[in-house]
Amino acid sequence: MTTTIVHPEVGVHTQDSPFVSRTKPPQPFTLVLFGATGDLAARKLLPALAGLLKNGYLPQAFAIVGVGRRDKTDQSFRADVQKALAQFRPHDSADDTAGFLAHAYYQRTDFTTDEGMTGLAVRVRDLEREKKLSGNRLFYLATDPEFFRPIVEGLASAGLIRREEDRPWARVVIEKPFGHDLASAVALDRDLLRFLRPDQTYRIDHYLGKETVQNLLAFRFGNAIFEPLFNREHVDHVQITVAETVGMEGRRGAFYDHAGALRDVVQNHMLQLLALVAMDPPATLKSGDISDAKLKVLRNLMPLRGVDVDRYVVRGQYAAGTIAGQPVPSYREEEAVDRASNTETFIAMRASVESWRWAGVPFFLRTGKRLPRRVTEIAVQFELPPMQLFRTVECAGDFCDLREAKPSVLVFRIQPDEGINLSFSAKRPGMQLDLHPVEFEFAYGNSFHAELPEAYERLLLDALRGDATLFMRSDELEAAWEFATPILDAWHSSLPPQIPTYPAGTWGPSEAQRVIDEREWRRP
Ligand code: BG6
Repeated sequence: MTTTIVHPEVGVHTQDSPFVSRTKPPQPFTLVLFGATGDLAARKLLPALAGLLKNGYLPQAFAIVGVGRRDKTDQSFRADVQKALAQFRPHDSADDTAGFLAHAYYQRTDFTTDEGMTGLAVRVRDLEREKKLSGNRLFYLATDPEFFRPIVEGLASAGLIRREEDRPWARVVIEKPFGHDLASAVALDRDLLRFLRPDQTYRIDHYLGKETVQNLLAFRFGNAIFEPLFNREHVDHVQITVAETVGMEGRRGAFYDHAGALRDVVQNHMLQLLALVAMDPPATLKSGDISDAKLKVLRNLMPLRGVDVDRYVVRGQYAAGTIAGQPVPSYREEEAVDRASNTETFIAMRASVESWRWAGVPFFLRTGKRLPRRVTEIAVQFELPPMQLFRTVECAGDFCDLREAKPSVLVFRIQPDEGINLSFSAKRPGMQLDLHPVEFEFAYGNSFHAELPEAYERLLLDALRGDATLFMRSDELEAAWEFATPILDAWHSSLPPQIPTYPAGTWGPSEAQRVIDEREWRRP
């Protein structure tokens, strides 16, 4: 039976939510992309915009103004964008690409000077006039974080953003890293909010744009069968893995060596995944309510300080090894990395969410570069049945083997092979009563036969539409830093002479076992 509820609240409820059908393109706009000559722009942002245009999500009138400090003309910038699209959107036709390039411009700008920003303002206004754009502006900051402040301040003094004005709209998307610890994140937020209203500030974590991450909410709160089990009564532990095979390609080491895995992946992506898998149902799907629900989890994270850091957190750094049959160098031999670096490229940790729902259930987090497989997953392992009815002892000669049912595990496969698996025990056919783990599987590819949109496509479109649901609110970000900062402090005060290493292509240093204790790390 279908019931239609006509209630003003329903309209409000569904409008600002991540699950709305998106048929109306955003209003005409100018997107000013700072860091337009960088890696993120080439690999993700420009291809995502081209994808949105191709799939009919953008209005007819819009302009993309690439901003960088390198000397380029519109033509040479378009040639670079064309190269990037050829590499990252190889299936687009020449017409698709040409259609996108016609919207792309370039403005060389020293964004630390008034002249630079004034020149940019003139260019943006000229383009808006020429192309009859309505003055709506999205500024995307994909630069080194040291430029976030001067850029926002420069935009305000050049009159490109105004705190007081709502129409036409002006919004700023800020890439990670947002601060390098709690104090710097708080200070950055305070400084940016002198020029921006909170609702103009879009702090991005691209993991939230991933289809499979959004599906966590749909799965948990759109079905009644699993949610009653998501608590300390039934869950033994949760394992979150973000494993990568890549190392420090290009000059990535220049950034990474000052960041490390805790800042680069745990503080943001992994804690967001943890918050989504552990949160209570939000009051509605409106942006504020989802953030409130996530914030509660982040606030309930037990801080790890001093000796607890040694006990519950293991870091590692990759040594030379083999990835996909190819020899790869050690981290310290990578370009732009300090030869004596102690930066962690791997972390395994035990976190606890001290809430009514989760008290006592460990959340094991593990991430690393140069691991054997690229895989991101969340595995929820359930308790064993209270009584081991199916325990059997099998003896062969002097050796006896104790066989018991294996715990059921629900795995959210975030990437690749996106889907959900539930493994449980079933009777193995035969005369004996022997249990064997089997699986139910949901695979996106098999069920929907549709390509999953790229995370950045989704997030760029949301920012253009003014939907902040999948962006991070400042209190969430600060709660995540509140958890990560004492760990950094503890490491800082007791830097070991050498952090444990692991050969590239393996699952991290053997010390990681200490964190998980009598349980086992998964080998996805
Ligand atoms: C980025 C990190 O935020 O996420 C990178 O800075 C990491 O170091 C990347 O490789 C992983 O993203 P994805 O989407 O490939 O899992």
